[in-house]
Amino acid sequence: MSLAKKILIVLVIILVAIQFIRPARSNNNQVSGTDISKVAVFPDSVRVLIKNACYDCHSDNTVYPWYSNIQPVGWLLAGHIKEGRDNLNFSEFGEYSKRKQLDKLDAIATVIGDGIMPLPSYKMMHKNARLSTDEKNLLINWTKQATDSLSVK
Ligand code: HEC
Repeated sequence: MSLAKKILIVLVIILVAIQFIRPARSNNNQVSGTDISKVAVFPDSVRVLIKNACYDCHSDNTVYPWYSNIQPVGWLLAGHIKEGRDNLNFSEFGEYSKRKQLDKLDAIATVIGDGIMPLPSYKMMHKNARLSTDEKNLLINWTKQATDSLSVK
């Protein structure tokens, strides 16, 4: 057997083997008791946009795409999701200190305004996560309303 063939066989074996190493998943499909809607105004128009564009990485309600079953793609996505949730989790927003809530709302307006979020690789695969200028403005205005509503609640 040629060396190239041996290397190919080893690669195929590795590729098959890693399919069994699957990252843990979590999607409880529920609105948690610490959901952002419990502590700030969160109208349906905003929820729909955030759900489509942000929830997969920033909530406990991740919808896993079919290709997340293919490793190492699934590992890559799991990394984004973990890092995303660590930075901002809409399902845990109510647990944050008031200070952190204000900071996060501010950060949301910034990343949306600058077009940094959702991540480009995500927009490539999710058409309805691409926000129009009107949708961006709606979300940015909402962060201001939400900020005001926090200080009341
Ligand atoms: C594909 C996964 C993914 C999606 C979808 C996504 N994010 Fe993120 N987000 C991340 C990751 C990973 C980080 C942390 C690393 C970084 O900052 O690039 C992050 C960081 C952030 C931060 C920074 C937190 C801080 O305190 O500085 C904010 C705010 C944020 N995202 C908001 C959003 C919003 C709003 C949306 C939807 C419009 C969104 N993200 C969509 C993965 C995602």
